[in-house]
Amino acid sequence: MTTVVIASDHAGLPLKREVQVELAKRGIDVLDLGVQDETSVDYPDQAHTLAEAINAGWAEIGVLVCGTGIGVSIAANRHPGIRAAVCHDVYTATMARAHNNANILAMGARVVDPATAIACLDVFLKTEFEGGRHTQRIAKLDR
Ligand code: RB5
Repeated sequence: MTTVVIASDHAGLPLKREVQVELAKRGIDVLDLGVQDETSVDYPDQAHTLAEAINAGWAEIGVLVCGTGIGVSIAANRHPGIRAAVCHDVYTATMARAHNNANILAMGARVVDPATAIACLDVFLKTEFEGGRHTQRIAKLDR
């Protein structure tokens, strides 16, 4: 069974909860790395923990949520092998997988409404990397 690892800061918590419920409805195992309450935290802490979990092989795909999706993606992308993409709609979420082979979907709880976020999640999970010419481009990311 697929496992998806999720994490957020305080701003992303409401959307993280919605993502968690939807993943469970789809029969997907969820590993929730926090946060669990709205106490203010520093988003890099959750992003680094999640990136480390992916690089440790706990899951192949992660979802990170903060206010904008930007801070968590910047932090996660500092880890070699991590490709975190901030997505705002179905098109960006699809292309993040198809062309960028993104392994983390980053979203902003203050930017996307829950229905859009879940639509992004669904396409992110089902879209395969196209490979081909994109493979050499992915390889250059960690150059
Ligand atoms: C928290 O207020 C906010 O700055 C954070 O969630 C995120 O949007 C940073 O990129």
